[in-house]
Amino acid sequence: MGRRKKIDLTKIEKIKSPKTTFQNVKGMNDILPKDQFYWQIINDVGRKIAKLRGYYFIETPTLEPANLFKFSVGQYTDIVEKEMFVFETKGKDLVALKPENTASVMRAYLQHQLNYFSLPLKVFYFDRFFRYEKPQHGRERQFHQFGFEILGDSDPVYDAETILTAYHFFDELKIKNIKVRINTLGCKNCRLNYKNNLKAYYKKHKRKLCKDCQKRYQKNILRLLDCKEESCQVYKKEAPIILDYLCNNCNNHFKVVLEVLEDNGIFYEPDPYLVRGLDYYNRTVFEFNEIPPEGDSQLNFELGGGGRYDYLSEYISKKEVPAVGFALGVERIIELLKVRNIKQDKKEKVKIFFVAVGEQAKKSALKYIHLLRINNFIVDEALGRNSLKAQMKMADRVKANISLILGQREIYEGTIIFRDMTTGVQENLILNNLVEEIKNKMKLNKD
Ligand code: HAM
Repeated sequence: MGRRKKIDLTKIEKIKSPKTTFQNVKGMNDILPKDQFYWQIINDVGRKIAKLRGYYFIETPTLEPANLFKFSVGQYTDIVEKEMFVFETKGKDLVALKPENTASVMRAYLQHQLNYFSLPLKVFYFDRFFRYEKPQHGRERQFHQFGFEILGDSDPVYDAETILTAYHFFDELKIKNIKVRINTLGCKNCRLNYKNNLKAYYKKHKRKLCKDCQKRYQKNILRLLDCKEESCQVYKKEAPIILDYLCNNCNNHFKVVLEVLEDNGIFYEPDPYLVRGLDYYNRTVFEFNEIPPEGDSQLNFELGGGGRYDYLSEYISKKEVPAVGFALGVERIIELLKVRNIKQDKKEKVKIFFVAVGEQAKKSALKYIHLLRINNFIVDEALGRNSLKAQMKMADRVKANISLILGQREIYEGTIIFRDMTTGVQENLILNNLVEEIKNKMKLNKD
């Protein structure tokens, strides 16, 4: 996060008119109407689960003080060292586009003293985040997470509760083949002992590690276990594991978490080298992956991850607030639903298409459309098109179930044509009693 070169804003002003159509910034994608269904379903499922499990909504600002992440996520993590979008505001504040939400949620909890709320406080968010990564399949510079955090309690049942919440989420989306890899990072005491032993082990291999790991060796030894470089994997295989260094309390904590998971039929895979890419974790850490269907290759990304972060509050204030949580990557889950063709229940409501032909009918149309909409009918229209044919074509395109057709003659007679778009059968309804008539028609159709 060193000083950057000043940007010459006059260059922006010099461009009078763009030569080509602007494109999105690399790694920051548009979410288009064709994907609305997926985003809606994630939103619905996430909110339903939050409601059932007692989580309250929280939203933190897009910009946070850059140092918040330096002190919590960790100065020597990839996220802070390489991936944060950091800049100075006109008021000379150093801010960052938030790369994640756990630190922000804790900041908000401490700032607004949310401990009065309930113990523990459970919150959820559906938000966008920014990391300057190399864009590739499942890895973007702007992405979304659906996250759940439980603040104010150190009991291991809450570690298990977060994992069960994630499984609930996957289940609701009909994603069945999920495994959770799980590990513990112990507490300050047992971790210190472990880190010393890890350092002693890696000392003899130091020269053969990748450049990043040689730096990590000096500054943040646990990060060595997180390295994805092929050349470093062989040394990881023989490295000491934290389970051999746990104190009694941490051992018991982990045992309870695993027992509760077993009681709930969760298929977990212990991974003694799982450390996660953020420094604020202690004790339980976990990541979710798909188990690919037989014959299919594994999607090369985690769907989500989380863990306990009892010390995070102390890194950014003087308060102790034990906490645990996780976040799911929304783009990745959507990708999984698409790639594996996992169908969702469509509880779509009946869609009405309102057709108006002639000046008089068009003028009156909005009154009836509004009336239907405030009575909870989904109504689409193409009032900008004049001909009956053009409007009916649009009704087909948006897959309307019913068309209501209003022309000069209908206005004069006080009626409207009701057309069932599946059967093509038409009949006239009384315009003055439109809402009731349509409700009756739908009841009849159901029977
Ligand atoms: P994280 O593992 O950095 O954890 O991110 C959580 C999830 O966000 C990842 O598993 C992945 O699905 C998604 N994700 C991360 N980076 C990208 C990216 N560049 N493009 C697309 N998806 C991405 C956290 O952020 C922690 N705050 C989670 C947590 C909550 N821990 C405790 N509470």
